[in-house]
Amino acid sequence: VYVRVKSVQRIGDKLRLLDQTRLPHELVYNDYDRYPDIIAAIKRLEVRGAPAIGIAAAYALAVGVKQTGKYQSDDIRVVANEIRQARPTAVNLTWAVDRLMARLEATSPENLAATLDVLWAEAEAIHREDRDMCLRIGQYGAALIGDGDTVLTHCNAGALATGGIGTALGVVYTCRDQGKRIRVYADETRPLLQGARLTAWELQQEGIDVTLICDSVAGALMAEDKIGHVIVGADRIAANGDTANKIGTYSLALLAMAHEIPFYVAAPASTFDQAMESGADIPIELRSPDEVTEVFGSRVAPEGIDVYCPAFDITPNELITCFITDTGLRPGGRAAGAVRCNE
Ligand code: MRU
Repeated sequence: VYVRVKSVQRIGDKLRLLDQTRLPHELVYNDYDRYPDIIAAIKRLEVRGAPAIGIAAAYALAVGVKQTGKYQSDDIRVVANEIRQARPTAVNLTWAVDRLMARLEATSPENLAATLDVLWAEAEAIHREDRDMCLRIGQYGAALIGDGDTVLTHCNAGALATGGIGTALGVVYTCRDQGKRIRVYADETRPLLQGARLTAWELQQEGIDVTLICDSVAGALMAEDKIGHVIVGADRIAANGDTANKIGTYSLALLAMAHEIPFYVAAPASTFDQAMESGADIPIELRSPDEVTEVFGSRVAPEGIDVYCPAFDITPNELITCFITDTGLRPGGRAAGAVRCNE
C-alpha cells in the first residue's frame, strides 16, 4: 500500500515538514534546523496528528542537540522538556521523546557526534516503525470492511497525520488496494477544518471517492442508513479503553451507537497510555478563542464573547466497538463478541 504524501522527512541534519496550515491551496515544505521553530510548528499545527507529532518531536531533539552542540544529559533534558510541552493530549509526543532519552541512557555516548548518531538513529527507527504500524493497522482494519461499504471519518487520521499511510485512512487505502470500492464521508471538523482542508484533499489526491460534510450532517446520514462504519484515529487511549480524539468524536460515537453502526478507533501501540487509568486522567488541550471567533482571519463572532475551545474530547470505551491496532483487533466496550469486532 503506497501513498504519495509525506508529512515529515529527515533531510540531512534538518527536519522537513509539509506545512499543513497551507493545505489544500499550497504545497509548501519548510526545513528546520532550530528546535524552538519545530516546537512552534507543532503548536501552530503545521505538523499535527498524534503519530506525526511524535516523529517530529523525536527529530526535534536531534535537531536541538545539533543546534546547541550540547550533549551532556542535563542539557539534553532541558531541550527534551521543552519539546514535551509543545502539545498536551497526544501521548505520542512524550512517548517519542522519552524513548530517545532512554536510548541515550542505555548507550551513554561519549561525545557530540556519538550522541547525535544515537538520536538520529532512534528518531528514524520511530519513523520507520510508525510506517510499518500503519500498514499493519490497514491490514487488520480492512478485514472489517466489505466491497461497496461506506465509511465516515472525523478530523484527519491519514498519511498527513502519520509517518506512513495513516491509521483510519490507512484502512481505506488498504481496502482500495484490495480492490474494494469504498466511499468515504469526511466531517469538515470544526473549528480548524482538518477534515475539509486535509482529509478531503488527501483522499482526493489518492483517488478515493470522498464526500465532504458539515459535522452536523453525520446524524442525518446515519438516520438515512448511508453510513456502514465510523473509523477515527486517537490521540491517547487510556488503560480502560477511553479514547481522546479530535473534538466531536464523542458525539459521533453516541450517534453511531444510537444507529447501531460500528465505531472503530484505529491507532498504533504508541498511542496507548497504560499510565492513564481512564479518560478522566487525559489532559485536554484548550486552544485559542480566535480559532472559533475567526474563520481564516475574518471575525464571525461578536467582540468580547466568551469562548470554550477544547481541541479533543473523550469517547468512553463503552461506545467503541473495536480498536484496530498494529497487533490486531481488540474489542472495545461495545463489541458484541470477543472474536469479530464488527457485530
Ligand atoms: O489537532 P490535531 O489535528 O493534531 O488532531 C488530530 C486528531 O485528533 C487525530 O484524529 C489523531 O491525532 C490521530 S492521527 C492518526
